Amino acid sequence: MSRSLKIFIVDKDNITVSIVENYLREVNYDFSLEKCGTLSEAKEKIDENALNLFIVDASENVEQIGTEIDNLEDTFKNCKFIITAYDFKTDNIVRFLRKSKKDFITKPIIKTRFLEIVNEIVEKMTSEQDFSGQGKVISVFSNKGGLGKTTVAVNLGYELARRDRRSKVAIVDMNLFLGDVTTFLDITPPYDLSFLIEKLDVTKDVVDLTTQYSDSNYYVIADSPYRDYSRNITKEDVVKMLNVLRKKFKYIIIDNSSAITGKTKYILDLSDMILLITESNLPTLNNCKRCLDFFEHIGLQKKTQIVLNRYSSFDECKKQDVADILQKDIFAVIPNDWQTSSSAINKGITIGETNPFSDIYYSFGELADLVARKLCR
Ligand SMILES: Nc1ncnc2c1ncn2[C@@H]1O[C@H](COP(=O)(O)OP(=O)(O)O)[C@@H](O)[C@H]1O
Ligand SMILES: [Mg+2]
Repeated sequence: MSRSLKIFIVDKDNITVSIVENYLREVNYDFSLEKCGTLSEAKEKIDENALNLFIVDASENVEQIGTEIDNLEDTFKNCKFIITAYDFKTDNIVRFLRKSKKDFITKPIIKTRFLEIVNEIVEKMTSEQDFSGQGKVISVFSNKGGLGKTTVAVNLGYELARRDRRSKVAIVDMNLFLGDVTTFLDITPPYDLSFLIEKLDVTKDVVDLTTQYSDSNYYVIADSPYRDYSRNITKEDVVKMLNVLRKKFKYIIIDNSSAITGKTKYILDLSDMILLITESNLPTLNNCKRCLDFFEHIGLQKKTQIVLNRYSSFDECKKQDVADILQKDIFAVIPNDWQTSSSAINKGITIGETNPFSDIYYSFGELADLVARKLCR
């Protein structure tokens, strides 16, 4: 854990304070513990932004302390409060449970109960998204392979980067150990995703751990070539990585795998926008509809946009038919252009660099504009 746990304890009883201190030493978290005899003294000292846990003894006057903690809870939104006492009356607890964040612990404080609360706080801290950076995360997904996820991710990222040279854009290959982004862009990165995650706490600038694409403001974070490393990437790792990337990159494009695994679900969940890639043929559309229903079920529908790839005006199933089948508007259409797409891949460059006068390139420009408008409103 990179941040340390900030704890404040208000208790005149030194034995309780040292018990708490000993419990905290037993777990492997970096923490700081400030101590105070009275609540009014504590109020002068505490910093509302930094505090994670506030422990206060209410043995003598539970009514008054409980009311004061009610008020503190409104100010210290990210802090957990524990009220301790040798003896609690049930009606006191019921009255103060109106606010959900408080916990009541009878003294002497039992280790397991106390550490349960501390672990909960730490778990929340490590899985919290930090939106203080400007960066937006765009996930490109389809629940079927070969529909054009990597093509869309790589070329959308390049277009977003081209539109604002002063900002940086990153593409992250989340097809752990089976990714194609480095092949599409013909680069051999010295570092991969696992290395970047491992070094996040010690690096000064995360950009140094990415690979710049051809002198541009477009940067690649490659999948790990080793299966075992890829397996070890946890949700906390991804949250931490995105928090850091959001501070350095205006857009972070994620090229996902087609499998709906726990990993994909939390990546999609952490994204600001999901581009769901589909094609205008029935099996793919049926699949896509099922995926949309599932997204509805897990609360991802709202941020999902449909990109109809490889579309041709000769397709029997027209754009409006696709929208009707999916019961959702089509966000963007990318035309079918096998020649330009495969030539770009074979040359290891983007579609824009392959044929800047093609319709397919124009449509990636339009997609980039739409995405930027939607996310930066
Ligand atoms: N708009 C398009 N027109 C023609 N071919 C395309 C288009 N988009 C992708 N392709 C081709 O489809 C194949 C699969 O694309 P890819 O991006 O690798 O899909 P995925 O990442 O979903 O597996 C590639 O050969 C690519 O060149
Ligand atoms: Mg792919």
